[in-house]
Amino acid sequence: MTRFTDLVGVEHPIQLAPMSRAVTPALAAAVSNLGGLGMLAMGRSSVEAANLQIDEVLALTDRPVGAGFIHLFLDHGAWEAAAERLPIVEVFWGAPDPDLVLPGALVGWQVGTVDEAKAAVDAGCAYVIAQGVEAGGHVRATAPLAEILPAVRAAVDVPVVAAGGIGTAADVRRALLLGADAVRIGTRFVATVESDAHDHYVARLIAASAADTVLTERFDVGWPDAPVRVLASSLAAAEMAPAGTVATITARDGTVTDLPRFTTTPPTHATSGNLDALPLYAGTSVDAVHARQAAADVMHELIEGTRPA
Ligand SMILES: Cc1cc2nc3c(=O)[nH]c(=O)nc-3n(C[C@H](O)[C@H](O)[C@H](O)COP(=O)(O)O)c2cc1C
Repeated sequence: MTRFTDLVGVEHPIQLAPMSRAVTPALAAAVSNLGGLGMLAMGRSSVEAANLQIDEVLALTDRPVGAGFIHLFLDHGAWEAAAERLPIVEVFWGAPDPDLVLPGALVGWQVGTVDEAKAAVDAGCAYVIAQGVEAGGHVRATAPLAEILPAVRAAVDVPVVAAGGIGTAADVRRALLLGADAVRIGTRFVATVESDAHDHYVARLIAASAADTVLTERFDVGWPDAPVRVLASSLAAAEMAPAGTVATITARDGTVTDLPRFTTTPPTHATSGNLDALPLYAGTSVDAVHARQAAADVMHELIEGTRPA
């Protein structure tokens, strides 16, 4: 047990990263049902879309599940619905905001600096996620996890979750020894059967190593000035692609949306087109991706890292 598992009421100090376009309710429920903390990704969700995801996840698990939002795109109706219906809500990318700390839900904030962690606690957050620069997807951090984690740990008195580059049981153990109260895992869970990531994306993850990832600000349509860690091959393919639409994505209701070059949307099962030129988000933890596995198999492997060596 750690301060984080006590706080959120789960068995293992392992949190699924709320990854827009990759996490499905089935993935979040699988992690929660195995004693971790599953997280829905609300991204740009409207209140209707948020409620639909919550309905789906609550039908699949009765364990704690949370929801992660992006401050830039946060819909207040969706936030209020999630805070009312789920025990944990979380924000990434934006100045910590006390107005979002609503009674009844634990609020977490993913941070990239010590100052941001302090601001999150001052705003009333119950825990913070310290992100290292090794992380896949949008990267708030500039320092490696081994630097920011102890610094955040020393600066705040709430549970601290470590994120970025954690892919193996040994990585989990190292982060916990460095003072983390839990670990947050992204890229490993992209490569699961339950994720919505396109097979082509997962095949690229399987073939890649940490050295094949790069931080870039080029994937910036609708979300400027934000570094992302992606496979370098996807940056090269996007640079080569002609300006304009590179792919399309079809919603459940059949609506087709064009994805422009340098979109922030990664390829899902509903995407077609030049998939290599979409952002193939990957942390340095991609080293540990060797197959598309069931989420349960990934959980069993990572849980080993929470036990004494
Ligand atoms: C495909 C992908 C999408 C992501 N989307 C989000 C998101 O929507 N919200 C968020 O808070 N973090 C997002 N992240 C970042 C994670 O919260 C976390 O910091 C990161 O995955 C940790 O590094 P790892 O991928 O090496 O495990 C995303 C990461 C990936 C790989």
